[in-house]
Amino acid sequence: MDLNVVILAAGKGTRMKSRLPKVLQPLAKKPLLAHVLETSFKLNAHKVIVVYGHGGDSVKTEIAAHFPDAPIHWVEQAEQLGTGHAVKQALDLLETNTRTLILYGDVPLISEATLSRFLNEVQPGECGVITVKLDDPTGYGRIVRDHAGVVREIVEEKDAGKEIRKIEEVNTGIMLADSIDLQQWLPTIENKNVQGEYYLTDLVRISNEHDVPVIGCRVKDPIEVEGVNDKRQLAKLERMLQKHLAEKLLLAGATLADPERIDIRGEVSVGQDCFIDVNAIFEGKNSLGDNVQIGPNCLIQNSTIGSNSVIKANSVLENAVVGKDCDIGPYARLRPGTKLSDQVKIGNFVETKNIQMGMASKANHLTYLGDSVIGKDVNIGAGTITCNYDGANKHQTVIGDNAFIGSNSSLVAPVEIGEGATIGAGSTISKDAKGHALTVTRAKQVTLESWTRPTKKPK
Ligand code: UD1
Ligand code: CA
Repeated sequence: MDLNVVILAAGKGTRMKSRLPKVLQPLAKKPLLAHVLETSFKLNAHKVIVVYGHGGDSVKTEIAAHFPDAPIHWVEQAEQLGTGHAVKQALDLLETNTRTLILYGDVPLISEATLSRFLNEVQPGECGVITVKLDDPTGYGRIVRDHAGVVREIVEEKDAGKEIRKIEEVNTGIMLADSIDLQQWLPTIENKNVQGEYYLTDLVRISNEHDVPVIGCRVKDPIEVEGVNDKRQLAKLERMLQKHLAEKLLLAGATLADPERIDIRGEVSVGQDCFIDVNAIFEGKNSLGDNVQIGPNCLIQNSTIGSNSVIKANSVLENAVVGKDCDIGPYARLRPGTKLSDQVKIGNFVETKNIQMGMASKANHLTYLGDSVIGKDVNIGAGTITCNYDGANKHQTVIGDNAFIGSNSSLVAPVEIGEGATIGAGSTISKDAKGHALTVTRAKQVTLESWTRPTKKPK
């Protein structure tokens, strides 16, 4: 039977105390709702429907930017009258011969594995609910089972008496039902309860009345069903997620100086024997070869690092490709479009942007290299600047193999330095420099023997 997914995301999230709608609050740098959508898409659902309310336009725009090609159906719930009312808004979009899974925009870490298990354990013609046992069930709807273990009722805390409040198994909110049952039963739900809301959980009672069994599937790891209402819970969930991602990296064979001091906001793949020191942050898609060493306090975004390369402390890599056996940092900044071949050395306070650098070339200190194609075995002296911007346009610098650029040189692009050329220190090069020759543009050094230092005038 085909599957529809309905994600409830209309809540205001007042407790976030933020202008940003709750479902756009970032977890591992990705909106909460994007986590849920990503998991939904993995279920091969026929249709994914998001019920939105507060901040609708910004939610749609932001989410569309994350999933440009994914068809998401948006349904507005103008007034938040309860979870049952929210699902009701989507009923017209559900095909009769499908099942519908209900997820939540603020329960971001429910896993594909758990949902697949849920979809298998609950048969068509049955109703399902994912539950969890909590030491402190305060605030949650309680799961009331009969002797056979069938879920008979879900009672909201506010509507529950003393005995029911003692039940530790709670409703995560995640439910599964035949679409046709939802279409027939949801319109009959009433709001005669303490909160005056239309409860989706009433579905359980109604199912039982129609002899449709309600299967309760318990999840073991509460992280999967943890909801986010305020910044404290968001921070807690972020740490739980980071712990989980660090463990995954350890199991993949990486050595982490401290699994509690690494942040992964995206993906990292590692070869064998990688070492990652404290406070490394990975964002986007990253891949490390074998035996890569990442020093402390590095920020690495969408980058590829070849085997045996070392990224030393406090370096920043952004959309960069680093070859094998490279030596980067400390304090290096590789900006987008940096492509380094093998054995390249980039030292402290060197910034690169949109450059290719050939095998075994070096820029060891205090340098800016932008929009350049640099050959192999090139030595870039300290303080070299490629002047790539004339105030209006960017221009390219080309440096041939085996060239030597003396310290404190400015290469005014567009300009080409020939193969094997030497540039004398302190030169400003604005015309192409010949290969295998010394080019110097500074004034000749003179010594004035008769010159004396100025002295202070007596007062
Ligand atoms: C709900 C469940 C409760 C469960 C708990 C788990 C009901 C009646 N209660 O309670 O059994 O233990 O979740 O966290 O379902 N939403 C809308 N539109 C609405 C109302 C809610 O989109 O009109 C969305 C909210 O944005 C939120 C989710 O549904 O993401 C849950 O709503 P919330 O009011 O927080 O439900 P709880 O009272 O926590
Ligand atoms: Ca509520």
